[in-house]
Amino acid sequence: MERTTVISPAEIEKQLNICQTVAGLTAQWPQRPLAFVDTYGCQQNEADSERIRGYLEKMGFGFTGSEEEARIIVINTCAIREHAEQRVFGNVGALVHVKRRHPDTLICLCGCMAQQPQVAQKIRESYRHVDLVFGPHVLWKFPEMVHALLTRRSRMFLTPDEPGSIAEGIPVVRQDSAKAWVSIMYGCNNFCSYCIVPYVRGRERSRKPEDILAEVRQLAEEGYKDITLLGQNVNSYGRDLDEPMDFAGLLERVNNLPGDFLIRFMTSHPKDATRKLFETMAKCEKVAPVLHLPFQAGNDRILKVMNRRHTRTEYLEKIRALKALIPDIVLTSDVIVGFPGETAEEFEDTLRVLEEVRFDALFTFIYSPRPGTPAAEMDDSMPREEKLANFNRLTALQDAISEEKHAAYVGKTLRCLIDGLSDDSRWDLTARTPGNRLIRVVGNPSALGQFRDVKITGANKWSLFGELI
Ligand code: 5AD
Ligand code: SF4
Repeated sequence: MERTTVISPAEIEKQLNICQTVAGLTAQWPQRPLAFVDTYGCQQNEADSERIRGYLEKMGFGFTGSEEEARIIVINTCAIREHAEQRVFGNVGALVHVKRRHPDTLICLCGCMAQQPQVAQKIRESYRHVDLVFGPHVLWKFPEMVHALLTRRSRMFLTPDEPGSIAEGIPVVRQDSAKAWVSIMYGCNNFCSYCIVPYVRGRERSRKPEDILAEVRQLAEEGYKDITLLGQNVNSYGRDLDEPMDFAGLLERVNNLPGDFLIRFMTSHPKDATRKLFETMAKCEKVAPVLHLPFQAGNDRILKVMNRRHTRTEYLEKIRALKALIPDIVLTSDVIVGFPGETAEEFEDTLRVLEEVRFDALFTFIYSPRPGTPAAEMDDSMPREEKLANFNRLTALQDAISEEKHAAYVGKTLRCLIDGLSDDSRWDLTARTPGNRLIRVVGNPSALGQFRDVKITGANKWSLFGELI
């Protein structure tokens, strides 16, 4: 196994010193130094952006949502599907006008897209207004890069092809005051044949349990109520540690920390989701009764070519075991429609899994070929219209199931985290059930950020409706 590079505390200290040097420079600017950080993709990217903001704050920057006002623009990108990449290229392309109006504004592109050689090349040649491109492995030296840009003014491309590193002690500016992300591991070893993640985020590497526990303990002390442990495949947590421990063990230790907070985690891979994990979920009172367990496809031949290393039967057996232990478990999943070579009959197997499991919600995707992955080389002859028709059948079936499952909540009273102000004037607040279903709530906004009893009074296929008690 390739060893993980651990970035030493002295290296991070050096970056923090560079932040101070940069803060000395930004303090002399005529206008207030502002930064705009735009994030695409998954929660891991959200968590990375919180670290970029952490560094930016130490460099003297405030934050803005306006590209015009910003002196530094950081676009944290996602490579999981082509559509995500096209949106980024569109938005980065449009920044050429901002750069023309404000030549001093630094434009940076990072994240999973940036780590792909063909993307870096395209930016180098055709998006000359972009000043800095860096991959996820070198995020820890962002201050050094900004300092170099401000003092030397030449374009920089830092996308080393490494198995990946772990850095502790990077400052964080969190986006929310009640919900927090905590990365417990980085990278992925699974190489599902359609997926770009292992190529851009490197091999699996786990943070030490002490570091994770210290972070969660501090969040709980600061009043965070909803803490999500993040990793591409949290179920294989700890295998690479000098003193190996498993995810169930970590979950139990997080659960034993003092404080009133909920623990969530994502994402889990079915092949590594064990009975021990389910038992731990059942006995740990802080662990939310919810599991996101992507099954991707319901047909064994497709699962095999996807390199998922589990069968439909194994998946369904795990779900049955989990439901027996936690009857009110909320289940969500990811599904890919139109994987290369998937036939009409094979797609029917995916629908059957939906009917059998009855997920509370589903994230559904049409297969998108990712250059460099094995699936991108496979014969993919199903016409797009047919894939779209299958996709629509899948979402229609799930909508009907979600609607039924939501209807069953009506009349119940649940202890929920009040997590936001409603953007719809008919409701005051938004809340989340313990299983993370959205509720639109009538009630006094002073409840924001607290656990409160909510009576569910109505439902549709997307959300629940209720009132504060
Ligand atoms: N095309 C479509 N969907 C994909 N996913 C990952 N790679 C691809 C791809 N190439 C989906 C999977 C995964 C989720 C995060 O994104 O369902 O679980
Ligand atoms: Fe991609 Fe599979 Fe790893 Fe998930 S488990 S990140 S789908 S390779």
